[in-house]
Amino acid sequence: MAKPRDAVNNLKEYTPGKNPEGQKVVKLASNENSLGASPKALVEIKKRLKNINVYPDQYSRELSSLLATKYNVSDKNLIIGNGSDEIMQMLAAAYLSAGDEVLISRNTFSTYEFVTRLFDANPVFVDLKNYTYDLPGFAKKSGDKTKLIFLCNPNSPTGTMFSGAELDSFMANIPDNYIVVIDEAYAEYVEREDYPDSLKYVREGKNVIVLRTFSKLYGLAGLRVGYGIAKEEIIKYLKMVKLPFGVNRLAVAGAVAALDDKSFIMKSLKNNKEGKEYLYGELGTGNWKLDFQKTEANFIWIDLKQSADQVFLKLMSEGVIIRPLTSFGMPNAIRVTIGLPEQNKKFIAALKKVL
Ligand SMILES: Cc1ncc(COP(=O)(O)O)c(C=O)c1O
Repeated sequence: MAKPRDAVNNLKEYTPGKNPEGQKVVKLASNENSLGASPKALVEIKKRLKNINVYPDQYSRELSSLLATKYNVSDKNLIIGNGSDEIMQMLAAAYLSAGDEVLISRNTFSTYEFVTRLFDANPVFVDLKNYTYDLPGFAKKSGDKTKLIFLCNPNSPTGTMFSGAELDSFMANIPDNYIVVIDEAYAEYVEREDYPDSLKYVREGKNVIVLRTFSKLYGLAGLRVGYGIAKEEIIKYLKMVKLPFGVNRLAVAGAVAALDDKSFIMKSLKNNKEGKEYLYGELGTGNWKLDFQKTEANFIWIDLKQSADQVFLKLMSEGVIIRPLTSFGMPNAIRVTIGLPEQNKKFIAALKKVL
């Protein structure tokens, strides 16, 4: 029998949020946009369906030039991926060799560890501090073998963020032979004013790549489009390792249209803000033993103080799917996407019933 590489034997398959099987089930498990997809994207995708016999542009230039204008960088600073996940894999493919070290937080997005192990490198874990990324802890664990550092801001699953000042002092003490990956999948939802301007480091020529996605605010998780912004040299190497046509025509069309869908963006942000206030109110005043974290994203982290897997099953029988955080190393906690008002109400009613 053909044997895979050792690294492959040690990989864990991704644990996705469960998809609903019935129409009445509410899915609050994967931080998708509860309002659906950007309507402008849907119109544009339909228009361009007839062109799918033709290969897409290999660099998705229609989208990258729009993003370059939006962020005031050159399109040589942009890479588009089949989700930001794919860009994480490109980073690992371009920069990691066997034995290199990658700094990764505990209780965070699992793809960082996956791509590290896939390329025979070693994850070095840093604990969260008060449910938040501990940047001084990262600095302490960095060393000669460090190649990549993954920072998730806001963090999934806790919804917490580190500030611009915290990132500034971290960056000031980091040698310039590491690449710092700042995953900002939920940046658009952040309300705190001290959120970092991480593109500043890209403009200064630092080894930083900022990752963003169309999967969350823009409602296009099923299309798979994400992007990275970094200095030209980093983007050049990522383009060398990427598959030629990873991002398809319809995904680019959808992303281009969604970027300009101001009314959908406003509605989504308003829904999120109101939903989170509602959840804070309910979770904070209920007659129950739980903790939660204030969130800067479109989901909320809740410590149930009991087996999340059990509660997950009970909530599912009430027609609500949430994410138990066992696979994130937090077996007593859940992550719940902020949904439409009626979905949030249904979640709270179900939670009251099962606790
Ligand atoms: C922190 C974080 N980064 C990246 C992603 C993946 O984004 P994409 O759909 O663009 O691959 C997710 C998706 O859940 C996420 O939570």
